[in-house]
Amino acid sequence: MNFKVPRGTQDILPAQSWKWQRVEAIMRDICELYRYKEIRTPIFEQTELFLRTVGDTTDIVQKEMYTFTDRGDRSMTLRPEGTAPVVRSFVENKMFGYADQPVKLYYSGPMFRYERQQAGRYRQFVQFGVEAIGSDDPAIDAEVISLAMEVYKRAGLSDLKLVLNSLGDAESRTAHREALVAHFRPHIGEFCKDCQSRLEKNPLRILDCKVDRDHPLMASAPSLPDYLNVPSKLYFNQVQSFLEDAGIEYEIDPNLVRGLDYYNHTAFEIMSTSKGFGAITTLCGGGRYNGLSEEIGGPNAPGIGFAMSIERLLLALDAEEKSFEDEPSLDVYVVTLGEEAHRKGFQLLQQLRKEGVKADMDFMDRKMKAQMKSADRHEAKLVCIIAEDEVAQGVVQLKNMGDGTQEQVAATAIAGKIKELLK
Ligand code: HAM
Repeated sequence: MNFKVPRGTQDILPAQSWKWQRVEAIMRDICELYRYKEIRTPIFEQTELFLRTVGDTTDIVQKEMYTFTDRGDRSMTLRPEGTAPVVRSFVENKMFGYADQPVKLYYSGPMFRYERQQAGRYRQFVQFGVEAIGSDDPAIDAEVISLAMEVYKRAGLSDLKLVLNSLGDAESRTAHREALVAHFRPHIGEFCKDCQSRLEKNPLRILDCKVDRDHPLMASAPSLPDYLNVPSKLYFNQVQSFLEDAGIEYEIDPNLVRGLDYYNHTAFEIMSTSKGFGAITTLCGGGRYNGLSEEIGGPNAPGIGFAMSIERLLLALDAEEKSFEDEPSLDVYVVTLGEEAHRKGFQLLQQLRKEGVKADMDFMDRKMKAQMKSADRHEAKLVCIIAEDEVAQGVVQLKNMGDGTQEQVAATAIAGKIKELLK
């Protein structure tokens, strides 16, 4: 029987994994700059957590969750996203009591959604995200957006577009919701079953239905910005002026509603505008979620955050034909000929590594020529050659792969010489 990686998942092989490490390092660096600290929550949570927060009329909850009953008969779900778990932890660990507010957190880890597989859409993907919980200062909305943009810029992306909208506060949303119900109700029979059940429960979700996307009533639906009350408009204006102060360009898209229920006020997405990018162009999504903490039994703790998948970031880099310059390479490759030389070579190898030199040697009993080829393939800067003569004389031939020069160095002096050359 042949086993395959499950549909919608992928193995990250060494040719790619170093790029993942570069991206993760950039994220960690930037979080440190912005003083966001890492949180790690479990891969699975009680199913109820996502029903309550992401929302039971969303595609994520209705169609995409990996839900299972554990041996204790509890319903558990592989996390489809990171915000609900982080806020759950914020409440459970009483982080609202920390002297240091807002609590600024980041995470990076696998998320699971049973989606139709296509380019940029996986069933297991890695989200990097941040959550700033405890403040409703519009400046922190701009900070969070700026952090996301910074990650992409530092990774080398330039074909980016930031799209912004406001979903308003509870009062604005109720007004909009009523208008939506009135708009769709007379023709709801023409919509899919999901939309029919969404009409009363959550009409906003009709707007991001993938089935009825082209129905004429979609384009003429009441637009959210027309229903924003004065405080919501004011808040949105402030967020925009903070973004302008930070020199961050944006476009307003009144149709941006996001696919999760916990949002209000600021909603944003960052898209790739690169021609080479596939059909799904959203790299990052986020927004404000005042009220989410209360929804799961916590105190009033307004929050904002975003998440981006590393998969899509790397796809965007490919689309822009960019990569990281610092692909890992070897400092030294040790080439040996004969049993005694192999022993000496191994001793040298270990000594070099102890001194922080990236070094490797042949373990396949290959001929000299093949070993030199390996050194080349690994892009070693220097090669140490040890054969019988070298063992007898207590020396090493040191070849500089950059300029092709070769010199004989005493075995006792080789490590020092190498370190000097690598400086
Ligand atoms: P989301 O829009 O569902 O938001 O996902 C955020 C990002 O995760 C997307 O923009 C995309 O980069 C990535 N993503 C989502 N689904 C997939 C998939 N199937 N394959 C690959 N990448 C995917 C959230 O998850 C919110 N928790 C974001 C947030 C944090 N809002 C506030 N705080």
